[in-house]
Amino acid sequence: MPAPALLFPADPLNPHRPDPHFAWEARVLRDVGGEQYLVDHDALLAGRADEAVRQVPRDCGPLWYRGWMIPSADYAAFARALAGRGANLLTSAAGYASAHELPGWYGVFEGATPPSVWIPARTAARPGPEELAAAVERLGGRGPAIVKDYVKSRKHEWHEACYVPELADLAAVGRVVARFVELQGEYLAGGVVLRRYEEFHRAGGDGGASGPDGSRRRSKSGGEGGGAGAAGSRGGGNERAVEARVWWLDGEPVLVGPHPDTPGQPADPDLTEVRPLVRALGCRFVTTDLASRADGSGWRVVEVGDGQVSGLPRGIDASGLLTSLIAA
Ligand SMILES: Nc1ncnc2c1ncn2[C@@H]1O[C@H](COP(=O)(O)OP(=O)(O)OP(=O)(O)O)[C@@H](O)[C@H]1O
Ligand SMILES: [Mg+2]
Repeated sequence: MPAPALLFPADPLNPHRPDPHFAWEARVLRDVGGEQYLVDHDALLAGRADEAVRQVPRDCGPLWYRGWMIPSADYAAFARALAGRGANLLTSAAGYASAHELPGWYGVFEGATPPSVWIPARTAARPGPEELAAAVERLGGRGPAIVKDYVKSRKHEWHEACYVPELADLAAVGRVVARFVELQGEYLAGGVVLRRYEEFHRAGGDGGASGPDGSRRRSKSGGEGGGAGAAGSRGGGNERAVEARVWWLDGEPVLVGPHPDTPGQPADPDLTEVRPLVRALGCRFVTTDLASRADGSGWRVVEVGDGQVSGLPRGIDASGLLTSLIAA
């Protein structure tokens, strides 16, 4: 069996070069002796998976992807198109969905992550008032909360489309959810999630960077136009939760660093409780974003992500991570 190769998105302006955002990772991979191929992310998201993978050589064996987020249905088409060329993505479509979407990982991490409920977008993206009231009830009915979808929040529009000061104010919940759904538009992934708000340790900062641009090229932070975290704390100040991003491969932490929104922050999370949960999830390559509780009572899992589409912070040494991936 050959060593795994990596797939990067191609530069939309030059299909024979990696997308400029991933060029440095591609260079590090080359330096550590890894093989790489390019895929057309735009074609993939336009439903043309076979065209997206046409630069990938036939029968090239095991593959990891490192690039922009891919909706779960498109990832499944991606995996099928690659399998049709005799290549296999080491993260299956089912594994990708479990790590990438909150309902996929929540059951395993419940108790270690803020309590959460969700409303699948079956018919309309925007839940009706009864559905919202029932979801609020399931979440305990009162207290502050966060709104997001199965994958992303609108943390850059914190007061407008992310933070709910009081769940008991159903009209306010409805307004924040409606604005969130409107801003997500066609990018709304899966459905609406409500999470109990918890106070995390925060660092001062400007916190007010712009959010993602309108393109389909988005990552779990570290990619889109923004660069700073949630634009505001509970009281409306300009501080952001300090998160550590832990990169796990086969149940072992292979890289521990800051979240890409706070690249300069040191990160030294206690992994004792998280390690068995990552193993229980059973996905080979995932990230966990961890924040420490403001009252000092320990670390919480803010979210889980698929390692293939999680952003790396600027300036981090990725050689160990990439070496591990091609040895996996
Ligand atoms: N339950 C919570 N309690 C307090 N703060 C929260 C909670 N959930 C999220 N946050 C804050 O909001 C930010 C955005 O939330 P989250 O990480 O879930 O969304 P995201 O848009 O997927 O982010 P990323 O850019 O990491 O992909 C977090 O970084 C954290 O600071
Ligand atoms: Mg996050």
